[in-house]
Amino acid sequence: MTTVAEDSELAGLRDALGLLKDREQVAQRLLESSAKHSFDPDKELDWDAPVEDGKWFWPPELVSLYDTPMWRRMSEEQRHDLARHEAASLASLGIWFEIILMQLLVRHIYDKSVTSAHVRYALTEIADECRHSMMFARMIEKGGAPTYPVTRLNHNLARVLKTVSTTPGSFACTLLGEEILDWMQRLTFPDERVQTIVRGVTRIHVVEEARHVRYAREELRRQMVTAPRWERELTRVSSGEAARVFSIAFVNPQVYTNVGLNRREAVAQVKASGHRREVMQSGAKRLTDFLDDIGVLRGPGRRLWKSSGLLA
Ligand SMILES: [Fe+2]
Ligand SMILES: [Fe+2]
Repeated sequence: MTTVAEDSELAGLRDALGLLKDREQVAQRLLESSAKHSFDPDKELDWDAPVEDGKWFWPPELVSLYDTPMWRRMSEEQRHDLARHEAASLASLGIWFEIILMQLLVRHIYDKSVTSAHVRYALTEIADECRHSMMFARMIEKGGAPTYPVTRLNHNLARVLKTVSTTPGSFACTLLGEEILDWMQRLTFPDERVQTIVRGVTRIHVVEEARHVRYAREELRRQMVTAPRWERELTRVSSGEAARVFSIAFVNPQVYTNVGLNRREAVAQVKASGHRREVMQSGAKRLTDFLDDIGVLRGPGRRLWKSSGLLA
């Protein structure tokens, strides 16, 4: 005869085994998809083709100042210039995120079975991110705009996060970095007004990133079930704080100075822009719906998400 305590312990074990089996199945499918659809950007894209006259480096509607009074006063050339600098700024942000993610993934698998599909997929994803970061760097160089590092403070905050963060928080931050940029890239690669090289870069990224999003989502969903209560609470607050920092750091304000605009006024107009708010909230919607569903958007964390402007 088993006691009630033993019963619930057995049920817990069964659940945990079910989750682990599910984890292997997800990873197996992602590995199969990676084998079929992975790209070498160095070979896949024509890096020697000249920059095309009159084409955008980023769709104008996704440029931060779009549809503001300042935008309406800018010449077409200056708008193109700003789009080129914002593309470089977002690519710089992307590289920063990917470098953080690579370290988080390495730490995530450190104690796990090296022959599991889950670990093999994590290694595949690290290899993807390696190629992406090199690809983004090449794209920045091609556009002729500088790289745009995040502020010293954010750079160092992330140094702490990537070194100590426990896993559910790591995966929530991963999704934050991946999903909003991914939403923008899905609008960019089919856009014929955009430079061919940028369309190629965003197409490769969207295809490979879809698997990363799946991997992080499934892992976060499992961890929000299995992690101890304090860790779930911490994830709610840390992801809200990450959303707040992310929304501020999203476009480096130096881009405005570099295209000859008043930085302070530009930042104020972006902040007041209804169009921009809608873009950022639409970009975050898939993510915030998911996080809400698995219980991340509760309590004080939810208020931080709202203050980030990413949650309506
Ligand atoms: Fe990536
Ligand atoms: Fe990724």
